[in-house]
Amino acid sequence: MTILGIETSFDETSAAFVRDGINCDYQFFSTSMDKHSKTGGVVPEVASREQSIYIIPVLQNVLGQAARHQGSKTDEITKLSQSNNLSHHKPLTNIDAIAVTIGPGLIGSLLVGVETAKSLAYAWNKPLIPVNHMLGHIYGAWLTHGNQMNDLWPKLALLVSGAHTELILMESHHRLYKVGWTLDDAAGEAFDKVARLLDLPYPGGPRLSKLAESGNPHAIKFPLPMPQKDNFNFSFSGLKTAVLNYTRQNPNANKADIAASFQHTVVTSLVHKTLAAAQHFNAQEVILGGGVAANRLLRQTLTSSLAPLPCKIPDFAYTTDNAAVIAAAAFYHQNFADPLTVQADPSLELPHRADT
Ligand code: KG4
Ligand code: ZN
Repeated sequence: MTILGIETSFDETSAAFVRDGINCDYQFFSTSMDKHSKTGGVVPEVASREQSIYIIPVLQNVLGQAARHQGSKTDEITKLSQSNNLSHHKPLTNIDAIAVTIGPGLIGSLLVGVETAKSLAYAWNKPLIPVNHMLGHIYGAWLTHGNQMNDLWPKLALLVSGAHTELILMESHHRLYKVGWTLDDAAGEAFDKVARLLDLPYPGGPRLSKLAESGNPHAIKFPLPMPQKDNFNFSFSGLKTAVLNYTRQNPNANKADIAASFQHTVVTSLVHKTLAAAQHFNAQEVILGGGVAANRLLRQTLTSSLAPLPCKIPDFAYTTDNAAVIAAAAFYHQNFADPLTVQADPSLELPHRADT
């Protein structure tokens, strides 16, 4: 089964073809990140305007790649790549369904993808699958490790993005619950805010972790957030304040040491809670997902701390926002919906477990 995925929840405009939930055949994306570097963070209005500029070219690109590989005639592909109204063209390739992120995210950005997907599903007469963005972050592991991901249950997923930090218990594809979450800032948000304190440009996470490579992670002892093991929640705003206070009191401190010590504390907190939850719920394997999953220290520390428990880390390409993970999630969650009634929901959540 081939699913065309569309993701526009934040500052990436992305489309991908995924086969059977594990093979990403074609993908293409555009990002408005450069625009947000100038303002030091994402301005929702700017992000949604960029989404509407890039959605058609991104789709033309990915449909063109697929058509070319599947032997369509050159003049048909040229027509497709020049058309501003894709819905007038029948897809030149085999698509069994269209999947789209409906939330959580920025409403203006989400609407661009959702309305485009609805129009294409209606015009092409294809089933439409609405997908929760956080569910998508789980399925980067399937695109990376393939069908072996279907062997071990229950699983625990640590999802770390710019707006969310969550632990998801998966008893099966369809029985999954949120068992831990952040009480304030998300891990990625803390990386971005501390990066700004250190005068690093947006997006701060990757830049802070690069700077940390040359610092001493034990130079400064920041307080470990929420060390208790009787719940699986996170909190990063106190840590961010501790870094702010430290930089004010020590204006000449080595920035690389601050970055390394902060990163070490965030990673220790994430790993500590994941390990506790994995033991509590008897997880047979752990999955990592979301933009902060690109962080090398987190990838290494989580894998080594959990051993011998298997830890499935996605390829870098499937950590930050992308349409391939949305299409992969849709394969395992074929909740077909009427294209005329699907709605974007900026505060969509995965279900909570009743006892958490
Ligand atoms: O999942 P994602 O692409 O977007 C959201 O759904 O929010 O995550 C973006 C977040 C940003 O906060 C970014 O700074 C962070 O992921 N990030 C990182 C790294 N790469 C991206 N944080 C720490 N280390 C990294 N290497
Ligand atoms: Zn994301």
